[in-house]
Amino acid sequence: MSDTQSRLDTRYGSNAMPAPQSWSPLIDSLLGHRSVRSYLPTPVSDDQLSAIIAAAQSASSSSNLQAWSVVAVRDPATRAALAECAGGQAHVSDAPLQLVWLADLARLESLATSNERPSAALDYLEMFLVGVIDAALAAQNAAAAAESIGLGTVYIGGMRNKPEAVAELLNLPPRVVAVFGMCVGTPDPAKPAAVKPRPPQSVVVHHERYSLPAQAPGIEAYNAAMARFYEEQQMKVHGTWAIHSAKRIAGPETLSGRDHLVEALNKRGFQLK
Ligand SMILES: Cc1cc2nc3c(=O)[nH]c(=O)nc-3n(C[C@H](O)[C@H](O)[C@H](O)COP(=O)(O)O)c2cc1C
Repeated sequence: MSDTQSRLDTRYGSNAMPAPQSWSPLIDSLLGHRSVRSYLPTPVSDDQLSAIIAAAQSASSSSNLQAWSVVAVRDPATRAALAECAGGQAHVSDAPLQLVWLADLARLESLATSNERPSAALDYLEMFLVGVIDAALAAQNAAAAAESIGLGTVYIGGMRNKPEAVAELLNLPPRVVAVFGMCVGTPDPAKPAAVKPRPPQSVVVHHERYSLPAQAPGIEAYNAAMARFYEEQQMKVHGTWAIHSAKRIAGPETLSGRDHLVEALNKRGFQLK
């Protein structure tokens, strides 16, 4: 079996997808992604961080506005405080580096002010989305880059649980907010993370027109694949992937405090008109 086929088998299940001819070292590295939640204390060097940030900055940016920033946190006390903000996630304090990715409209506002220009468009939802999308694209380039040099990562959406506390810890000005965090470090070989299966491509790809009913067979297959994964990983998940997902969207109480996000964003200077 080719390495390509084994990557696809791990991602989609044995022989679920034939290997395409089109392949590259980058695709190979992306297919090997897994979130890492156990790290060695080995620091991430300045050299590694520079390479990761160069990759992040190489992402596209809406109108080249560069409406994002990132705070690199190495200080153990700040990492521990951020872990508390994120719902007590141990890997946030354990990982030697926490990258907090920011939607940043403060820089644009300051550029406008110093050039004596108005900046009223910053009060619109669209500009908040521009910042969030820019931050996400930069972050995903960073994650892929980190993995390509042997580091592990995991995104931390928990950084949105308490946006104001995170802002205070990181000295964020108005119009800057954490979109998510990202643990970075050397994966602990004693606790290796598994590659998580993905739904068949028929669930997410539509040709010419979207169809919800066409996804049903693929979702059934994915429920079965995830049941096998939960069992192999000894994860105590009750019900199928579909039920597990439905539970996560049952009501505002499932949002870990993020049901108040609009108010928090308003307080942080995002009017979201
Ligand atoms: C925006 C975002 C936020 C996430 N937040 C968290 C988090 O707070 N804690 C955590 O342990 N994993 C978090 N994850 C990781 C997801 O659970 C993980 O990506 C998903 O289960 C798929 O697994 P994989 O990354 O190993 O393929 C987050 C992922 C994304 C994309």
